Amino acid sequence: MSKAPAKTTKPGDVSTTGHEWDGIQEFNNPLPRWWLWTFYICIVWAIGYSIAYPAWPLIKGATPGLLGASTRADVEAEIKRFADANGPIEAKLVATDLTAISADKDLASFAGNAGKAVFATWCSQCHGLGANGAVGYPNLLDNDWLWGGDIEAIYTTVMHGVRNTEDLDARYSEMPRFGTDGLLEEAQIGEVVQYVRQLSGESHDGTKAEAGAVVFADNCAACHGDDGTGNRDLGAPNLTDAIWLYGGSEAALTQTVANARFGVMPSWAPRLSEAEVRAVAFYVHSLGGGE
Ligand code: HEC
Ligand code: HEC
Repeated sequence: MSKAPAKTTKPGDVSTTGHEWDGIQEFNNPLPRWWLWTFYICIVWAIGYSIAYPAWPLIKGATPGLLGASTRADVEAEIKRFADANGPIEAKLVATDLTAISADKDLASFAGNAGKAVFATWCSQCHGLGANGAVGYPNLLDNDWLWGGDIEAIYTTVMHGVRNTEDLDARYSEMPRFGTDGLLEEAQIGEVVQYVRQLSGESHDGTKAEAGAVVFADNCAACHGDDGTGNRDLGAPNLTDAIWLYGGSEAALTQTVANARFGVMPSWAPRLSEAEVRAVAFYVHSLGGGE
């Protein structure tokens, strides 16, 4: 097969680097022009860029650059723009009576959206993204309220929290530890647990429940009410609705009565603005269980 011989560089066409291995010499071919120019342009561009934009690290921060570009300042400006845009309606939210918010369509729509965002950021870790709660963290969708479900009660609960030590106005109460502190015998606890199950219409031992009714009247009714429907001033749950914060099984109820529970919610006053607390209270109230 005949083929034109490939163009080869012969000794003498270009200079060599002077390196030689076993008679093989290394040509000193120049770099392609286009490559070299691209390389020079990159250097010039890099110098220009580092003068115009933040580039060289210093001990604190970096050289600012002549154009004064700063993505942080951009974000701050953007945040300020939104804050300014929302300023008037936030002021209106703070000035409006809590119960009157829903009557103002624009305000209600703003409060609902803002409240939803606050909820997703600050509340969903404990109460769930859908506000359906978890063991020890109340479901906020139903109309079973520990501390009250009208918008003012919700606002107070959120603003000050529950059983925390940081807010003097926090909702506070404490159920005694009937087992741990020896207030009731183990048998009495077993009996009152059966009575609580009877109150909620769950399967129970009738004889024990009968004895448990007496234990309940003596030890529990003061907080949970004679009929067991609870007391919102004390955050004492309704025990007749089969909606359980800590569980309605015999084991869970025995735990609750023997050791008591002590659900804590932080105070939101130091973390959220007045407008944010109002918005999230409005949002929670609108979820379905609001009174
Ligand atoms: C660290 C966990 C935690 C976070 C975060 C949290 N909560 Fe709570 N919340 C609780 C607990 C625990 C209770 C129940 C306290 C009790 O046992 O009385 C509660 C109770 C409530 C109640 C009272 C419910 C009732 O039945 O009366 C409301 C309303 C509420 N939270 C709203 C919120 C809102 C709104 C946020 C966000 C701003 C939030 N919570 C964030 C733990 C939390
Ligand atoms: C001083 C008031 C007080 C007394 C007395 C009291 N409780 Fe409670 N009880 C509470 C409070 C407050 C809670 C809510 C605790 C929490 O949310 O952390 C509670 C919670 C419970 C729960 C949990 C309900 C659920 O939904 O999971 C049960 C069950 C219960 N109590 C039963 C009893 C029984 C039985 C007695 C009597 C032997 C009793 N309590 C006496 C205040 C009281």
